[in-house]
Amino acid sequence: MARRKKIYEGKAKILYEGPEPGTIVQYFKDDATAFNAAKKDVIDGKGVLNNRLSEFFMTGLNQIGVPTHFIRRLNMREQLVRSCEIIPLEIIVRNFAAGSLSKRLGIEEGTQLPRPIVEYCYKDDKLGDPLVTEEHIAAFGWASQQDMDDVLSLALRVNDFMSGLMLGVGIKLVDFKIEIGRVFEGDFQRLVIADEISPDSCRLWDIETGQKLDKDVFRRDLGSLTDAYSEVARRLGVLPQNATQMTKPKLIN
Ligand SMILES: Nc1ncnc2c1ncn2[C@@H]1O[C@H](COP(=O)(O)OP(=O)(O)O)[C@@H](O)[C@H]1O
Ligand SMILES: [Mg+2]
Repeated sequence: MARRKKIYEGKAKILYEGPEPGTIVQYFKDDATAFNAAKKDVIDGKGVLNNRLSEFFMTGLNQIGVPTHFIRRLNMREQLVRSCEIIPLEIIVRNFAAGSLSKRLGIEEGTQLPRPIVEYCYKDDKLGDPLVTEEHIAAFGWASQQDMDDVLSLALRVNDFMSGLMLGVGIKLVDFKIEIGRVFEGDFQRLVIADEISPDSCRLWDIETGQKLDKDVFRRDLGSLTDAYSEVARRLGVLPQNATQMTKPKLIN
């Protein structure tokens, strides 16, 4: 069997050349990183959960007419996606204050914001993904005004979809980060939600108890990350059976 060509290895995923032109295979690793990779660990089963959860969210978005890069899941850790030209921005949508916003503006974590706030960070690990304004984005040509209009409306649609979905299972969507890419179809370009949507890229709090069910569990040493992600998957009806345990076969008499 021919060896596949690795296109890129990042902190959480590996990209391989896909079977057809214009496609990529996204492999979800078990590696967890935080604070721009200053904190690292391997968390058994995280990749499997994120692959499933990202599939679940992206499929739902496709169904309500929000285009995503997702084509189909290939196996426990891999999904086939459309290759796109990633806009070099982390697009953050916040419903409640947390993390860097709380720190920057001195707002207590958990405070509901007057309306969803969309922020942009320039995707550059060496610089620590700094916050930028639309002025920087326009002046440096990272995205056109038309792109940014579309980015904003896509980000807000993802927010409404994800907030509603989470609310239905007793979870508050505090904030999340997405990446958006361009796909080219003849003379036209279209923007699609790319990368992943998973508890790695969202803040998810239990509505009743405030328990954190996202990557803050790892960032702040609050317990088992796979337990938290499994809980999200279980509530959403993804992973009905204990699929993260599949590496440990059970003896049957
Ligand atoms: N559909 C896509 N086409 C091309 N690149 C993508 C696509 N989806 C995600 N990517 C890129 O692949 C990388 C995913 O790997 P990840 O481990 O998250 O990387 P990083 O450490 O840079 O965050 C990211 O750089 C992301 O921008
Ligand atoms: Mg990433």
